[in-house]
Amino acid sequence: MQHVLSAEQFSVAQLEDVFDHTDYMRTAVADDPRGVAQTHIGRVVATLFYEPSTRTRLSFESAAQRLGASIISTENAAEFSSTIKGETLEDTIRVVDGFADVIIMRHKENDAAERAAAVSSVPIVNGGAGTSEHPTQALLDLYTIRQKFGRTDNLNMVIGGDLRHGRTARSLARLAKLYQGNRLTFVSTPELGIGDDMLEFLTGWNIAYQETEDLSTAMRDADVVYWTRLQKERLADPSLASHFAITQRELALLPRHAIIMHPLPRNEEIHPSVDADPRAVYFAQAKNGLYVRMALLDRLLNAS
Ligand code: NCD
Repeated sequence: MQHVLSAEQFSVAQLEDVFDHTDYMRTAVADDPRGVAQTHIGRVVATLFYEPSTRTRLSFESAAQRLGASIISTENAAEFSSTIKGETLEDTIRVVDGFADVIIMRHKENDAAERAAAVSSVPIVNGGAGTSEHPTQALLDLYTIRQKFGRTDNLNMVIGGDLRHGRTARSLARLAKLYQGNRLTFVSTPELGIGDDMLEFLTGWNIAYQETEDLSTAMRDADVVYWTRLQKERLADPSLASHFAITQRELALLPRHAIIMHPLPRNEEIHPSVDADPRAVYFAQAKNGLYVRMALLDRLLNAS
């Protein structure tokens, strides 16, 4: 694993390795936090985020520090790095790769991580690129599913919200295609649907999917409900704001064994009263991000 650019780059064997290693990190942090913090003393991880972030950046920074590595960062790379002076992403990466052993980046452009990787002498991790990809989110999402069900196959995943602009659903669908028997039900409006490119991609992998606006019927048959917010900052026309919300009414339709996930941040698409339901796992899901990112960073730092 040289760079982490797309959910598509992972094989089943690599995912199993990351997930087993994530289990190890979870135990290590609980049982021996000072011991695991000896692992990468003297190494440096850079976080270069050109878009806002809470979970991704802080969990990566926590992961690096829990492994003993140090962090260099800019608070807001779009404003406080030399980008504002007109420096290209490529030039910035050519400089930062001299300061750090791994670079974790987030950018508004879909191809930014690939462009960075093309010039970087150290591993690049895509912490979210435009509307296209968020591979480490997909890893923690699938890890959470594996943790809750003991498997990642033969699941009906109901994926809903703003699928056109949300990158997490696309990356998750790219991982889900690796496993037999998964069925994907996309709940959205036609304007905010996942897009023909992804549907063709799933057809090519022989993954069953359907698109619907009927949230109630989708709920009745779900194993995993993966909900996403309206990406208001990416909408040219905010009046598109028609959205689906999960409330007590939808919870009443959902099977007892199902789980409700969300990459967070959430807005009004999951009512706060849902949080107390044992099927709501989104905060545990976010916490898994720490362990998944420790596992990834450990692999990348050992290889670099
Ligand atoms: C997501 C993102 O940035 O794509 N957040 C995250 O990393 N957990 C989801 C979002 O912004 O809606």
